[in-house]
Amino acid sequence: MYEQISHSLLNSILDELKPEIKRQNLRYFYTRLGANFYAIHSLFSTLYGDRDDFQAQMVRLVETMAEGYIYRSEESERLDMSREQDHNWFLSQKWVGMALYTNGFANDLADLTTKIGYFQELGVNMVHIMPILKCPVGRSDGGYAISSFREIDSRVGDLNDIQRISEQFRKNGILLVLDIVLNHTSDEHEWALKAKDGDLRYQNYYHTFEDRSVPDVFEQGMPWVFPETDPGNFTWNEEMKRWVMTVFHDYQWDLNYRNPEVFIEILSIVLFWANQGVDVLRLDAVAFLWKKMGSTCQNERKAHLILQLLKDCCQVTAPGVLFIAEAIVAPGEMAKYFGEDAIVAKECEIAYNATLMALLWDGIATRNTKLLREGIKSLPSKLDRATWLTYVRCHDDIGFGFDDKDIVAAGYEPHSHRKFLIDYFSGQFDGTARGLEFMRNDSTGDARICGSLASLAGLESALEKGDQGLIDLAINKILLLNSIILSFGGIPLIYNGDALGILNDYSYIDDPSKDNDSRWVHRAKIDWEKAALRQQRGTVECRIFTAMKRMIAIRKEISAFADFNNRELLHSDNEHLLCFLRYNHLRASEKVFVIANFDDHPQQLELESYSRYGINPRAKYIDLYSGVRPSQYDGSIALQGGQFYWLSES
Ligand code: GLC
Ligand code: GLC
Repeated sequence: MYEQISHSLLNSILDELKPEIKRQNLRYFYTRLGANFYAIHSLFSTLYGDRDDFQAQMVRLVETMAEGYIYRSEESERLDMSREQDHNWFLSQKWVGMALYTNGFANDLADLTTKIGYFQELGVNMVHIMPILKCPVGRSDGGYAISSFREIDSRVGDLNDIQRISEQFRKNGILLVLDIVLNHTSDEHEWALKAKDGDLRYQNYYHTFEDRSVPDVFEQGMPWVFPETDPGNFTWNEEMKRWVMTVFHDYQWDLNYRNPEVFIEILSIVLFWANQGVDVLRLDAVAFLWKKMGSTCQNERKAHLILQLLKDCCQVTAPGVLFIAEAIVAPGEMAKYFGEDAIVAKECEIAYNATLMALLWDGIATRNTKLLREGIKSLPSKLDRATWLTYVRCHDDIGFGFDDKDIVAAGYEPHSHRKFLIDYFSGQFDGTARGLEFMRNDSTGDARICGSLASLAGLESALEKGDQGLIDLAINKILLLNSIILSFGGIPLIYNGDALGILNDYSYIDDPSKDNDSRWVHRAKIDWEKAALRQQRGTVECRIFTAMKRMIAIRKEISAFADFNNRELLHSDNEHLLCFLRYNHLRASEKVFVIANFDDHPQQLELESYSRYGINPRAKYIDLYSGVRPSQYDGSIALQGGQFYWLSES
């Protein structure tokens, strides 16, 4: 399509807009719509251009953006503009995130506002409050099965609470992150209820089939997300007398993005939340958005087009709002969620670095960095205006989805290496880690792992044994992992109780709505009385919290830790060490040399072998984290088991 054609189409659409929209002062809206319309129109017509009602849907799309803009507050608009001007603002090392369930952190949303001091104490300034929307009791997948996209679950609060949180956060320089679950709804969502009632319009919001013929073809290509509890990707609905696509749980109905009405509904929900003062939206399970028979129904090109369209539309109405892609997919696919062939992110500005997360755990299990280094070498580079979320743990399981090629390059056989990892983290190897196996699929041999950071790193078993040496080592490992997500490049995301060393919580086994989902083992509620121990010297809580707090404060001061593709992985002859260099992208002489020892035993690093990277073996170094000079002897630096350094020449 020629741009001229899209311009004349835009004019005719503007003529057709509802009178109440036309009457508004929409100056900035029109400027941005003009700038983005060509892209929006091209994407919308690639996805839906063959429909008879295309033009009507296009009008509806523009109206949805305009309606969103009319409700945008002055404060949000002011932020939109300042972020447009300082468009790399989120690449700064000043951001540090935390993800939490409202009721795992506080009693409810109102109580959460009284705990802002905790974020400030630790240095966290981006908070992801996990799903808070209305969802059926028991069949909610931890809030990811939503029955009303604009209503907050009354057990945690209401919209006024979010308003208050957003105001309080803003006053304190904290970014608010909320979820948009756009791949599916609960089967109790109004759309699903109408579909069950036989309403064809709403049946077309989902993928439904009268018999197994199409589902059977789909099944041949599609893996199962929850094979133990929810095998298969389709569920028979007796009321509708149809099969419905349910990739996750049987009560989570996949939305049908072949239908433009679904896209427009979701856009309107995205804009609704953008207008509640949310800074960042986490888009859940984005890899699954487009279903194509014969494919795995993940990472489809059209899933990317849907995300590009969503970004372009959001850019018109609420340009200051960022998207996080939750795409826990193969390393090569992950970076595509920034948008391909671009410099500036065209889809999501931020994406979970699930590969780094899994690789770090490989380092913990093997005590070496062979696979970790191979994996980092193959990590696709990010776009200039995009960044990773670097994390060690989150509310979900850990999947060891690294590339087989990297496993082979590290000297292992993929199948047996993955089996070793499952054995290791489920404690069957040597009992150090206390994880639980999750969703074993007997037909493929795959399994994933659940467990809290501290329990997986060996703290639970060490405390049980009362062995001080092992406790120290586990704490070192916890800090080691955090030292990497805080220095690697990207926004570090700490999970709820991890800065306090929270262990597994086995009480989910007594709750029938949770007992078949071991992810609940690492979704413990913070016990604030115990958390107070972070102020008491010598306690485990205090050791972890104080160190994390210090690391965060120091990270914020090191401009070389901002994310501008300014990292170089260094080869080390010592397989236990991970070494990389971070440098200031504007002043390359400002460097930080990160070294992490994944072994339980002391290791040495020969500085001489790094001279080719510009490291001076005879210089004196200082560890920016501890402020201490590392022990240097005979051209080598010594590291204790599980120790890390953030070194700078001094
Ligand atoms: C996301 C969530 C996960 C949930 C899934 C289905 O991946 O992180 O907890 O089970 O989506 O909604
Ligand atoms: C799969 C999905 C991910 C989801 C997880 C839930 O890994 O890719 O989106 O969070 O399952 O356990």
